[in-house]
Amino acid sequence: METKIWHVTKENEIQTYLEAAKLLQAGETVAFPTETVYGIGADATNEQAVAKIYEAKGRPSDNPLIVHVADQSQIHEFVQKIPSNAKKLMKEFWPGPLTIILPLQPERLATNVTAGLDSVGVRMPEHPVALGLLAVAGIPVAAPSANQSGKPSPTSGEHVAEDLLGRISGIVFAGKTGVGLESTVIDCTLEPPAILRPGGISQEEIEAVIGPVISEAKEMTQQEAPKAPGMKYTHYAPKAPLAIVKGDTTFFQKQIDLAEKRGEVVGVLVSDELEEHLRKSEYMIGLGSKAHPEEIAYRLYDRLRYFDHTPVTLIYTEPFEKVGIGEAVMNRLDKAAGGRYIKQSEEN
Ligand code: TXA
Ligand code: MG
Repeated sequence: METKIWHVTKENEIQTYLEAAKLLQAGETVAFPTETVYGIGADATNEQAVAKIYEAKGRPSDNPLIVHVADQSQIHEFVQKIPSNAKKLMKEFWPGPLTIILPLQPERLATNVTAGLDSVGVRMPEHPVALGLLAVAGIPVAAPSANQSGKPSPTSGEHVAEDLLGRISGIVFAGKTGVGLESTVIDCTLEPPAILRPGGISQEEIEAVIGPVISEAKEMTQQEAPKAPGMKYTHYAPKAPLAIVKGDTTFFQKQIDLAEKRGEVVGVLVSDELEEHLRKSEYMIGLGSKAHPEEIAYRLYDRLRYFDHTPVTLIYTEPFEKVGIGEAVMNRLDKAAGGRYIKQSEEN
């Protein structure tokens, strides 16, 4: 399949939206930037169009998709009701990185969008290109992250091309995404609402608006089935195995040395603070300062993907504080590591 490429500029933006919207309306798949990560979109009312998303990504069909809209009024066409908590959240955080799960009106969306559930995740992204394209298309657009299933989500058009060139109908390039991690998913069909996936809007920010919520991600043990089906798969992972090393600087350095002695080529992905104290090595890269978790979020997926272009056989990273967007950073690192931890306390 030939993938049409657009690079959005001030001069060509309207023409780009018209052409890309036309493909979406015709039942084709088009990737576009949002403020979180790039998404791969298709008409959410068209079963065959949505099937192309699952096919292109190699995504399990029991994992429902988020429906993107340009305007809040659009959601009345497929949502049964909007609970008052959800209304408050929309008022405060839309457009923005918050996906709200609402009760679904039957027979308005393709059934494969929601994987047969009676609820639907909805979001209005805060990105001029996403909003422009959605407004011109005038249809609800189902859009998961535009990566091959299991890989880190794409934060640039180049990442999308790496995974999906030749597998989708179009890619709208418009630089890097701002947040760098996916939207927070909150289930507002429950009382109190429950955060199913931490993301761009923190639990603290949400609770400041609607009071206490439940955090599935925090409370879930490994054995329980997650409510957001997407959270049960190994995700966001680079090719080389990733492990989270929890201990002081000396312990971290020792783990690198031991692995190198075993013949591993070790990639090191750490904060600026830790990087300063480790012996320089070829595949060591900084994520930014611990004092700025939003920088770490912004860079994480790009840096994880970087290792796929190196000969590393193993990647070591460190745990980050679960405050604000740090909660989402750790959630993604945990998933990427598949729960692999090396802890100092257990060694000694
Ligand atoms: O930031 C984002 O949310 C990006 C951009 C493109 O908007 N999209 C994204 O979509 O991350 P995706 O498909 O990679 O993740 C959607 C998550 C999955 O964990 C899925 O299980 C959950 O949302 N989800 C969607 N609909 C749901 C529903 N009705 N009930 C529970 N979980 C749902
Ligand atoms: Mg995804």
